[in-house]
Amino acid sequence: MRKRLIAGNWKMNGALAQITSLIDGIANGLLQINGVSAADVELLVLPPSIYIPFVHEKIKNTAIGLGAQNLYLGDVGAFTGEVSGSMLKEVGCQFVLVGHSERRTLFFEDSAMVGLKFKAAVLAGLMPILCVGETRLEREGGQTEAIIHEQLNAVLQIAGIAAFEKAVIAYEPVWAIGTGLTATPEEAEAVHAFIRQFIHQNNVDLARTIRILYGGSMKPDNAALLLAMPNIDGGLIGGASLDAGQFLKICEAASVVN
Ligand code: 13P
Repeated sequence: MRKRLIAGNWKMNGALAQITSLIDGIANGLLQINGVSAADVELLVLPPSIYIPFVHEKIKNTAIGLGAQNLYLGDVGAFTGEVSGSMLKEVGCQFVLVGHSERRTLFFEDSAMVGLKFKAAVLAGLMPILCVGETRLEREGGQTEAIIHEQLNAVLQIAGIAAFEKAVIAYEPVWAIGTGLTATPEEAEAVHAFIRQFIHQNNVDLARTIRILYGGSMKPDNAALLLAMPNIDGGLIGGASLDAGQFLKICEAASVVN
């Protein structure tokens, strides 16, 4: 059975005071609700990198995991402004996002760059969460599967299938991110099944174990139905992860449908 994973991508949000009350709210809320146990659901927050050591200190002795939103390819060197996987690992990260649509679009990261970052993450001992997803226009043009295939295949060619053994995949339809529009459970499930089939073609055992998260306006009121789908193993949450109460409700939904 795949353990559900609920990850909160805080994006570029949160002053220190806001982050303090958010993480305290999640940690305290976790102690108060019976519905979420570490055995059922894995929880994870992805703060802006500057706050990672601060959050790491705060989540000590809690069941909350830690990840980063981005990394660079190199380990050390003349890469002004960048942060490497080994640095993230050293300050307590276990996970790192790779290929988020905001990185692909706003920071011009192409599939080759995403593949190299994925490989660098695995080499650094981090678990990459590889984000894939189509735009509205691509969906309307019937290109969803072709786009997802291209995004996955680029990473496969660069990193190899073995690297996926230490990875998570997140399906994030670009049109659903931050828009309040959500893929229906059936729409999401169809793409998740396609992604699992892609892995199956390359490694049958891995297809059974790899976790595939859904992201894109997942909220407390739609999480349970999405998470009830057989190939949806968790959520990558943006807006709702900035509210401890909402984030915990999604974690509870993930626990209930286990
Ligand atoms: P929203 O939940 O705000 O749509 O963001 C999803 C996302 O991009 C998570 O990485």
